[in-house]
Amino acid sequence: MQSPFRTDLLTGSVALVTGGATGLGLEVARQLGSHGAAVAICSRKEPNLREAVATLHAEGIRATYAVCDVRDAEQVRAAMDAVLSGHGRLDIVVNNAAGNFPAAVAEMSTNGFRAVVDIDLVGTFNVSQAAYVAWLREHGGSVVNISAATQYRGMAQQAHVTAAKAGIDAFSRSCAIEWGPDGIRVNVVAPGGMAGTEGVRRVAGGDEKSRSGNAPLRRLGTTTEVARAVLYLASDAASYVTGATLVVDGGGWLTT
Ligand code: COA
Repeated sequence: MQSPFRTDLLTGSVALVTGGATGLGLEVARQLGSHGAAVAICSRKEPNLREAVATLHAEGIRATYAVCDVRDAEQVRAAMDAVLSGHGRLDIVVNNAAGNFPAAVAEMSTNGFRAVVDIDLVGTFNVSQAAYVAWLREHGGSVVNISAATQYRGMAQQAHVTAAKAGIDAFSRSCAIEWGPDGIRVNVVAPGGMAGTEGVRRVAGGDEKSRSGNAPLRRLGTTTEVARAVLYLASDAASYVTGATLVVDGGGWLTT
C-alpha cells in the first residue's frame, strides 16, 4: 500500500517503539522508519528484536534494539540511556507493548489481571516518564500511546485489557496537560482488530469474519492502516493535536 505521506516526513528524527519486534509494533517501526526516522525498538525477547532489526535494515531503515521489560522501571531507564547514547536524540515515543489473553472475570487470578495492567498501563507510565526525564522535557517531542477500541463498549473475556486501555487513554490526556508547555504532544491510537495479528488470534480465536462483520467498513483493518495513524500523530502533520484519541477501527466500536 503506497504511502500518502512524503517519505522524508520524519527525516532527522529518532523514534522509540516498545513491543517493536512483532505485530503492530514492528509495522509502526517500519512506517516511521520508511518515512525517514531512525528507530529503536524494545521488547523482552532478544531473538525477536534481532530478527526485526535485520528485517528493517534490509528495507533500508536505520534501526537498533534494546532488551527491556516495560514493567521494570530500572530496565526501562537503562534502555532509554542506550537509545540516547546510540542515536543522540529522541523525538517520538510509541508505547505499543501489550499483553493479552482471553479470560472471564470469574476465572482470572489477581496476578493475571495485574500482569496485563502492569504491561499495558504501568509500562506506558514507565517508558513515558523515563523518556520525559531523560530527554523530552528539555527538547520536546511526541508521544503516541496504543490503546484499544474494545474499551469503549467493553468486551467479554477482556475486562483486564479494557481496564488497562481505559487507563492509558486517561493517563495520556493528563500527560498532554502536564507536558504541553514543554512542547510535547501526547496522543492515543485506539485500534480495532487487525488482520493476521496475534491479538485477533488470541481474542477472536482467529475468526476474523466474526470480528468485523457488522463494522461500518465491513472488514478488519491492517497493521499498516493503524501504523499510518501513529505516523500522522507522531509527525508535524498533527502539530496542534494533543490529548486526542484517534480510533482506528473502521467504525467497529459503534456497531459491533
Ligand atoms: N488465562 C488466565 N490466566 C492467565 C492466562 C490465560 N490464558 N495466561 C496467563 N495468565 C495468568 C497466569 O496464570 C499468571 O497468574 P497466576 O500467577 O495467578 O497463575 C499471570 O497471568 C501472569 O502470567 P505469566 O505467564 O507469569 O506472565 P508473563 O509476564 O510471563 O506473561 C502475559 C504476560 C500473561 C500477558 C502473557 O500472555 C504474555 O506474555 N503475552 C505476551 C504476548 C501478548 O500477549 N501479546 C498480545 C498481543 S495482543
